[in-house]
Amino acid sequence: MALQLGDDAPDFTADTTEGPIHLYEYLGDSWGVLFSHPADFTPVCTTELGEVARLKSEFDKRNTKVLGLSVDSLDSHKGWTGDIKDATGNALNYPLIADPDHKVANAYGMIHPNASSTLTVRSVYVIGPDKKIKLEITYPASTGRNFEEILRVLDSLQLTSDYQVATPVNWKEGEDVIVGTAVTDEEAKDKFPKGFRTVKPYLRFTPQPNR
Ligand code: BEZ
Repeated sequence: MALQLGDDAPDFTADTTEGPIHLYEYLGDSWGVLFSHPADFTPVCTTELGEVARLKSEFDKRNTKVLGLSVDSLDSHKGWTGDIKDATGNALNYPLIADPDHKVANAYGMIHPNASSTLTVRSVYVIGPDKKIKLEITYPASTGRNFEEILRVLDSLQLTSDYQVATPVNWKEGEDVIVGTAVTDEEAKDKFPKGFRTVKPYLRFTPQPNR
């Protein structure tokens, strides 16, 4: 059965451009973003991997380790890294997993046979410090992802794991958040000392509590 939210992230050891990695040890207490791309030396993937390198410091700020993956070999990955730097101006600065035997891809369900029987689709898994799956998204090979959106989701996942709040449509760091529906008005007065405004009994906004 496909991996679902709240499932344990499958642990693995694999060769990467930064040496062998044991996932759980590598993540330690950090959050993780594990993302697959279909193939090395391809145009959309080149732009994506360069963009993740550009955003690496933003992932660091969020205590999040990023790992890329495809079914290509380690030699292929190493050969491609120069192109990523040339094409995007950003040198690879995070591990790229080589998964030629599909061990990790199969454990995570990154190969969708009706899209391609051999290549990984553009999967993204966010893994929490508890090693549970917190988010999964899947894009086809023809559509590059927006990694700023992954950062935005990380902000929401981290905030909502620490406070009894949810984030509304299109929310961005710093904007008002929604008081959790399990919190009574009385409790909300204590939990959210900056106050809250009630739009509907089930829709109450409060300033972001950790700012
Ligand atoms: C690309 O990255 O452009 C790509 C990779 C595999 C299939 C199609 C497109």
